[in-house]
Formats: sequence, structure tokens, C-alpha cells
Amino acid sequence: MLLRNGCAGRILKSGSFRSMSTSWWKHVEPAPKDPILGVTEAFLADPSPDKVNVGVGAYRDDNGKPVVLECVREAERRIAGNLNMEYLPMGGSIKMVEETLKLAYGENSDLIKEKQIAAVQALSGTGACRLFADFQKRFSPDSQIYIPVPTWANHHNIWRDAHVPQNTFHYYHPESRGLDFASMMEDIKNAPNGSFFLLHACAHNPTGVDPTEEQWREISHQFKVKGHFAFFDMAYQGFASGDPERDAKSIRIFLEDGHLIGCAQSYAKNMGLYGQRVGCLSVICEDEKQAVAVKSQLQQLARPMYSNPPVHGALVVSTILGDPELKKLWLTEVKGMADRIIGMRSALRENLEKLGSPLSWEHITKQIGMFCYSGMTPEQVDRLTNEYHIYMTRNGRISMAGVTTGNVGFLANAIHEVTKSA
Ligand code: LMR
Repeated sequence: MLLRNGCAGRILKSGSFRSMSTSWWKHVEPAPKDPILGVTEAFLADPSPDKVNVGVGAYRDDNGKPVVLECVREAERRIAGNLNMEYLPMGGSIKMVEETLKLAYGENSDLIKEKQIAAVQALSGTGACRLFADFQKRFSPDSQIYIPVPTWANHHNIWRDAHVPQNTFHYYHPESRGLDFASMMEDIKNAPNGSFFLLHACAHNPTGVDPTEEQWREISHQFKVKGHFAFFDMAYQGFASGDPERDAKSIRIFLEDGHLIGCAQSYAKNMGLYGQRVGCLSVICEDEKQAVAVKSQLQQLARPMYSNPPVHGALVVSTILGDPELKKLWLTEVKGMADRIIGMRSALRENLEKLGSPLSWEHITKQIGMFCYSGMTPEQVDRLTNEYHIYMTRNGRISMAGVTTGNVGFLANAIHEVTKSA
């Protein structure tokens, strides 16, 4: 009997088949666990009934359950039945993109009217960042990206895989648990003119520390002086203040100063559309002609990667934002999520203070957005996980969205136990 050995492409007698077969993937080592999504994997594998997940940045209600917003349910009712399953264009849903640009740049933005923005639907914030990183590599091949310290861990992976060299700039000040504004400004000044910077538009992940409006003005001014390019990742619009319009302030300040920025937007958090992977990448251009060219190139990058983006989430978003009543409901629900988190910040701090913690926990209520950058060490986090079944990232980030009235006491007690002798 004759067999074809696929790897060698030769006809072999059975028996010699085994010895000739090649192990194609012998050299492949297991990848390290993702520092954020790996925490969810470990949480799911833990059989303890007391386990708490404050790892991933995903909103939970006060019973610790994932939430589907009422505006999303209503949008789904409306689109049920008439959903056509055709491909979207390579750049995604035009209606969704139009509505999304208004959230970032303002309802009456001249840039939108003048068609100066190249924008495409993207696979949520990650996809938008990656598309931009690939665009940067293709059209500014010698540039690097300045990334804040710390940042969302995946930013490093995104620009690494796009082969864009990375540099860093100061952002967080561990002692004050606030912004290291002076060092940040120094780094902006010292970077070569025309450098690319990654900025978090609001609710900085993982620190929950944002520049004030005044500081944003100074940053924008310095960017102007140096001719830097600002790329804003706006994954948490609405989660900082409860108001998406207010949370776009940093971007609006840059627009006032005439910057041509880039922006990644995501509906994972503020519409709870995590798994739908719906977002947008926009790049402001000098004029409409340039915007048409840039958009066509973004589409060219998308085509061999995923061809065109998924339709359902985009339809949900455009249905909500295109209807004044549903949009109003959405804004109320965003505020509700932000307020619950603010309430949990106060509760966690109060509980720790009542336990007599010798440490200051003021930063829990000072920081904003979904995360508290607690200051706990990786070893203290390991103790929380091993002794109390509390799951969080080893950088000490607590996803406040996972804290509830039911678990806040337990969480505070465990944090107190692992930090009191520090
Ligand atoms: C997070 O920071 O937890 C979220 O943005 C989820 C993710 O993909 O990492």
C-alpha cells in the first residue's frame, strides 16, 4: 500500500511513513499568559464560591452580573427581522462611523462638515489602534511611538506586532499616585520634533489618572511647538465623568489648537458591546482629498486582515445613536454605570479606613474611570489570589466595575490583610 507523505511530498511504503513524518511545530513554546485576559482564565478555572474578579475592565451590575444595556436591547428589537447579512464595505457602516465621529469631534464639528476626517469602522479599540499602527508603519516607516508609563498592556503588543519601534514617556507618579506632569512635559519637549505620541483621551488605563483641562491645554500647546502627532485611544468615553461629551474634552482642546490627530474609539465599555467588537479609527487630514486617500489606504490595510468588519454591532450602534430617544436612554445608562463605579470607590475606601488601615487610600476616590491603580505589589496581588480567590492584574489594578455592595467588604478586608504590614 502506498501513502503520500504530505511533508516530504514523496510516495512511501507504509511503515516508513511514521519515521519520515515531520513535526512542523516542535519549536513552538506556549505563549505567556495575557496579563489581563489570563486573569479571567484563572478566575473561571477557580471552583471557589467566594471568588471575585476585579481583573478585566468589563462592567458588572451590583450583583456582579454582566449587563446588556436597555438601549441595546431596544435596538436589537428594532433591527430583528430586517437584518441583512451582506458584507459591509471595507470601511464598515457609514452611518455608524458618522455617528461615532460626532461623539469624538462634536455634533457640529467643521471637520466633519468639511469631510476632513478619514474614518473606518474598526474591530473595537484594539482593532482601531492596530490599524493605525500598521498605517503608521506603512506611511511613516521611520517613526516610533511614545507610549505612557504605564499603559494598557496590549498597547505594547499592538505597536510591536506592527513593527513600530516604541519609546516611553513619564505619566504616573507612584509616590503621589497621581500624574507626573512635570516629567511628562519634559519628555514631550525632549522628544524629536514630529514624534508620534499615544495618549489616553480619558479614564487612563490602568491608572485612573487624567490630566486636568489646564494640563491638557499645556500638553496641546507643547505638541504644537514640537509638531508632534497625537494619537488618542478613547476606550472609556463616558466612564470618566458619566458624560461622553465632557470626556471628549482632551480631544476638543487639541482640535481648538488645530492639531491633526488620530483617534481610536470603542463601544465595548460605554455601550457594553464587548464581544461585538465595534469601534472606529479616524485620522484628521488637511483636506477632503487627503482624507479620501487616507481612508482608501486604511481600507487597503483592512482588506487582507479581515476584509470588512462585522455588521451586527455596527447596526446596534447606529440604531441607538441615530434615534434621539434611544441616544438619550444610552446617555442615562452610561451615567448610571459611571455613578455605580463612583459609589464603589467611596465604599472601598470607607471600608479600608474603618478597618484601621495604616495606609492612605485617598487615591481610590481621586482616580477616575473604571480602574483604581491601588499601589499593591505583585506579591500582594498574588496573596489576594492565592489566599482570598480575588483575581486582578499583577500591576495592582483593580477593575472597580467588578466591585459590588456584596463583595466590597470582603475585598477591603483582604486588601487590608495583605497590605497592613507593608
Ligand atoms: C482591560 O484593560 O481590562 C480591557 O481593556 C480588556 C482588555 O482587552 O484588556
